[in-house]
Amino acid sequence: MAKWNVLVTRRIPEEGLELLAPHCALELNPQDRPMTRAELLASAADKDGVLCLLTDRIDAELLDTATKVKGFANYAVGFDNMDVPEATRRRIPLSNTPDVLTDATADMAWALLFAVARRVVESDAVMRSGTWQGWGPLQFIGGDITGATLGIVGAGRIGTAMAARSKGFGMRVLYTDARRNDALEHDTGARFVDFDELLRLSDYVSVHVPLLPETRHLFSYEAFGKMKKSAYLINTSRGPVLDEAALVVALKDGLLAGAGLDVYEREPAIAEGLAALPNAVLTPHTASATFASRRGMALKAATNLLAMLRGERAPDCLNPEVYG
Ligand code: GLV
Ligand code: GLV
Repeated sequence: MAKWNVLVTRRIPEEGLELLAPHCALELNPQDRPMTRAELLASAADKDGVLCLLTDRIDAELLDTATKVKGFANYAVGFDNMDVPEATRRRIPLSNTPDVLTDATADMAWALLFAVARRVVESDAVMRSGTWQGWGPLQFIGGDITGATLGIVGAGRIGTAMAARSKGFGMRVLYTDARRNDALEHDTGARFVDFDELLRLSDYVSVHVPLLPETRHLFSYEAFGKMKKSAYLINTSRGPVLDEAALVVALKDGLLAGAGLDVYEREPAIAEGLAALPNAVLTPHTASATFASRRGMALKAATNLLAMLRGERAPDCLNPEVYG
């Protein structure tokens, strides 16, 4: 049987590769780093399909080169790395990996929330430094979580899962989104408010919007200024939703109490001054990095790609119009 030529732009969990292997001649990026632009353009040129990552830009230039590609399967739920209208215009299907990372990402947002509010990372550093002098009544006082107000910006799957977890902490939930989410309101008693009201009333603001032109720098210095000085900001969505340089200034100026970040505006770089701030907890874009989640993402991406190669509708197709 003739096999499809497939590019996998970086090693993913074996389960995904095993699904592809019987049907595909796989070219796997041998390096444990993203492919360079030149490598990606060259390797995609003769392929029938590409399993790509959020670090790969899928745009008109690549589509001009990779003319045989029948589909791109993104190993991520976010797909701001792909030019969807351009691919749709060329009738090239694209897919992502929703659902399998919803819980892991919401769990990580909570991990950041706890870590920054209860000063876990700062405290850990003190214990390791050997300088702790013993219990003290004023040491490492942080934000209250139980009974506080949680503001969800973007009530999709992950924002909804974030909110659901707050029930165990007796929190009041506010949310803002382009649309109402009846299930969220019903399950958590969440109240739909506008962005400014959410900033004004929340003790914790957790960001779950996709990166779109209208969400880029949604959080500006001005927005941080509308938050409570005692509030914490958590971002597990996409870095450019925050003006990261402005966040550093806002944290220094005391406009908010702290931030827990998993994503950055110019990954792998982080804004100047961020690393020196004790009230920022920083993780390296690992919100979906659990065994089950990453296995699920690998299986989904491979399943989507096989469907595209067969000319069938991919289960997680982002632009089903191409099949019309
Ligand atoms: C990770 O950031 C993803 O979008 O899956
Ligand atoms: C992402 O998948 C979301 O809907 O939050």
